Order: sequence, then structure tokens, then C-alpha cells
Amino acid sequence: MTKTTTSRVGGANWSMDEIPYDQIDSTLIQDKTELFNIICAASFIEITSDLYTHNLLEFYEGDAEIEDWLANYWEREEVQHGAALKRYVQVVWPDFDWDRAYRGFYEEYSRFAVMEGLAETRALEMVARCVVETGTSAFYRMLSDAAPEPVLKQIMANISEDEVRHYKHFYHFFLRYREYDRPSKFAVLRTLWTRGAGVKAEDAYVASKHVFMVANPGAPYTQADYDKFRASFRRIGQHSFPYVMACKMILKPLGLSASVGRVAQPALEYTTRFLFSR
Ligand SMILES: [Fe+2]
Ligand SMILES: [Fe+2]
Repeated sequence: MTKTTTSRVGGANWSMDEIPYDQIDSTLIQDKTELFNIICAASFIEITSDLYTHNLLEFYEGDAEIEDWLANYWEREEVQHGAALKRYVQVVWPDFDWDRAYRGFYEEYSRFAVMEGLAETRALEMVARCVVETGTSAFYRMLSDAAPEPVLKQIMANISEDEVRHYKHFYHFFLRYREYDRPSKFAVLRTLWTRGAGVKAEDAYVASKHVFMVANPGAPYTQADYDKFRASFRRIGQHSFPYVMACKMILKPLGLSASVGRVAQPALEYTTRFLFSR
């Protein structure tokens, strides 16, 4: 296949034009309802990244390097994640009305997303962003590993690489702001914990609800349906979640010495495994 680089956005090493959507083997995936729900919910959240970018741009106003990176790289790459997943859904599950479900999602989601609380300081907000990027990079790595269809595997691997790069940028900015804000280790740990514990729970709920309502016309969305959605994550995660990678990334902003990090990592890995196996 001839590679074109003209349609690449931000700093991504890939573009949607380079994804062989015409080579998808739908027979390998079209009956996998759990993956359909997860991919579709992820596409909704990613494609709506501009709502967060506004919040962050305001928070870091006056910092030209961060403003440029957020607006010209980060946001464009996140939106491309959503667009790549959307097109995949439309090829494999053409009967699903993605646009209609997304309209419902956006209407509900945009009401609370704009009010999302940011951390108290610029340094701590960068810690929070590191948590989110750790979560997303691990999530897509997990799905790339678990994907039964090669094109999906490729898309998930591409996105995961982007998320790791995002993490590295936010971590770099964290180090810069740490010099000014000088957050205590406790404040960093508290941010890691609060953002880590609630990683986008509302996002996942609203997204899965609107996927469900269009996929199952007339059926009410209940807590049991959401529990099923979450259980499907855990089931896939039990075999494919990259615990070691996620633990290393999440511990980095604490700046633990190598020896403490070596002690803390297995404990954190154990905890994460426990959460996934419940
Ligand atoms: Fe993303
Ligand atoms: Fe990201």
C-alpha cells in the first residue's frame, strides 16, 4: 500500500487514509456485541474532545507552548481517534445509526463535561492529565491485544501509541510547573488517586447508555445494563490489561526513588488486577 503523509494530523504517525477499512474482515467481529459497545462508546468520548480542550486552554492561558500543543496536536489527535473508531463502527455495523446515538450522547454529555472540575494548580492538573492518558493508553493497548480482527488491532495500536505520547507531553509540562507550584508528594498522590479512582466513570455511563438506546430501540437502559458493560471491560482486562505499563506510568509523577518504585509497583499492580477481577 502506498503511504501518504499529507492527511496526518498533529504529531500522529498515522492517518485515517492509511487504515485499510476496505480490508476489514467483518465476519471476525460483527457478532461481538461487547466490543461493539466498547468501541462505539469510546468513539463518542474521543470525538468530543474539543469540550475538554476549551477548559484546559483557559486554565493554561498565557503559556504559549501548552496552548499550541493542546489546540494543534492534542485535540486534533484525540478527535481523529474518535473519527477512526466511528468509521470502523460504520463499516462493521452499518445498521447502527451512529449519528443518531451520538446526538443523544452529546446533548446529555455536553451539559456536565464543560463543568468538569480541574485540579487546584497547573502542576496538579498535569498529574490528572497523566492519569487520563495512562488510562487511555492502557485501554487501547488492551483492546489491540484482544481484537479478533486485524484492522481493529492496527487502529487500537495506533491510538495507544498516540496516548503514550500525550502522556509524555503532559508529564514534561508537569515537571515544568512543578518547579513553580512545588506540590507536595501527598497532593500529587491525592490527585493520582482521585482521578484514578473515578477515571471517566460518567463518560462511560452516558456513552454506553446512548449506544444501548439506539442499538435496542424501546428498551430502557438500566443499572444492570451498565453493570454488564463494565463487566465486559473487566473480562477483557483480565487477560489483556497491560498492568506493568500502567503502573509505571502512574507512579512516575510521584518521582519515587528507584528502590521505592520497585516496592510500590507490585503492590499497585496487584491492586489493579484485583479491581479488574471483581
Ligand atoms: Fe484518545
Ligand atoms: Fe490522549
